[in-house]
Amino acid sequence: MLKISISSLNPGVKLGKDIYSYDGKLLLPKETIISQEHLDQFARRNITEVFIVESSERQQSDKRFEDVYIDCLEYVKALMMQARMGQTLAYKEISDIVDMLMVQVFDQNDLFRQMRIMKERDEYIYTHSVNVALLCILIGRWMKCEDVTVKELGIAGILHDIGNMQIPDEILNKPGRLSAEEFEQIKRHPLLGYNMVNEYEWVKESIANAILMHHERADGSGYPLGMKGYKIDFFASVVAVADLYDAITSSRSYSSKASPYTAVEILWQESFGKLDPRIAKVFYDKITNFYVGNEVVLSNNERGVVVFVDPSQPTRPIVMCGDKFYNLALERSLSILDMVD
Ligand SMILES: [Fe+2]
Ligand SMILES: [Fe+2]
Repeated sequence: MLKISISSLNPGVKLGKDIYSYDGKLLLPKETIISQEHLDQFARRNITEVFIVESSERQQSDKRFEDVYIDCLEYVKALMMQARMGQTLAYKEISDIVDMLMVQVFDQNDLFRQMRIMKERDEYIYTHSVNVALLCILIGRWMKCEDVTVKELGIAGILHDIGNMQIPDEILNKPGRLSAEEFEQIKRHPLLGYNMVNEYEWVKESIANAILMHHERADGSGYPLGMKGYKIDFFASVVAVADLYDAITSSRSYSSKASPYTAVEILWQESFGKLDPRIAKVFYDKITNFYVGNEVVLSNNERGVVVFVDPSQPTRPIVMCGDKFYNLALERSLSILDMVD
């Protein structure tokens, strides 16, 4: 246990001792994961120091990624059910989900492998919401956003497709390709979601904009408004990258999943004219480092391990197959077909 000043405390650490008010009321029990709201509350109450669980201790007592992910999925399902019934979503529940995910993004070195495993666990509509939130948090951290902004990005990720809850089930879950008319209905989800959350007192403009604009593209080819780049909210641009990555790497009723390498290459191409290039670049530069040590299948059907990523060509790493090394930056005919969990 460690006594630490509030000014040097970040959200995501675990409280080591109960906190009481001056009149003896329990304010926060030990083991609580401290969020930004808690920090604001400490400042308001003039609490200057707290005891926290030290990080090695914290990791041992922390819940495993799978457990947190499954908890979040259950919360997300409940939220979506409420939204379907036209109920107002409470800030507290969404905030708790994002707090849990923020801790995982801090602690996990193999976040992408874990996400690949977990996304097979439930329906796309729910895992997609959790994955997009995780990716938004990660991108926010990579872009050095402040913690409150990172948290709001996570909330935008959880809620970005909430408008789908007003789309008829038979269209939303239709196996196979949608007709042009059905696709037009699906394309209404950003506006439906925007109208829905605008009713909530607690929703910030950037979160509502992320819901409205996450399918807009800088060249005006997106929907629902066909907005141009300079008008698209930063939050929407972050969600757009996270959303596209998760959609490409997931199997859905009308398309099979592509490898994370293919997804990153598509994002890179889309950054010329469609996605925000600053965000796509950070994603492109950072994500492939997560793949060092991962087992992959090459297009010649050999299996190997990613051993080195050249920062100038992150999607063309060096792969070791038995005693052979393939430098994909030089062997242009070879590519990574899939990753092995
Ligand atoms: Fe969407
Ligand atoms: Fe989405």
